[in-house]
Amino acid sequence: MIGALNHVAIAVPDLGAAAALYRDVLGAEVSRPQDLPAHGVRVVFVTLCNAKIELLHPLGEHSPIRGFLTRNPAGGIHHVCYEVSDILAARARLVARGLRVLGSGQPEIGAHGKPVLFLHPKDWAGTLIELEEV
Ligand code: CO
Repeated sequence: MIGALNHVAIAVPDLGAAAALYRDVLGAEVSRPQDLPAHGVRVVFVTLCNAKIELLHPLGEHSPIRGFLTRNPAGGIHHVCYEVSDILAARARLVARGLRVLGSGQPEIGAHGKPVLFLHPKDWAGTLIELEEV
């Protein structure tokens, strides 16, 4: 069921500083900051050869990242994203085992314009997991 690692999302208190570290120190390919108001984040995409790192910063008062940064003021890993080929089949398999899908349970269009679901961190060793259909 599970495919490639698509990205690791890291919440950061200072997006410019984090982007500069990846670009200038690690020599990574780093995008310009992009506002994703539907997701309440400003994001910088760091493209690695086998996956992406997404540096997330809150955008707007109701950003889902804001509380996380309050609890983790230095920043931290927010979620990991795995690719699946059929998100509805993946959901059925998870739900059949009693695993929890966050929100409405319906796939929503994620930051890359593709359907995503988020899985409850308490079912996954404290890790928020995003599934993205590719
Ligand atoms: Co993500």
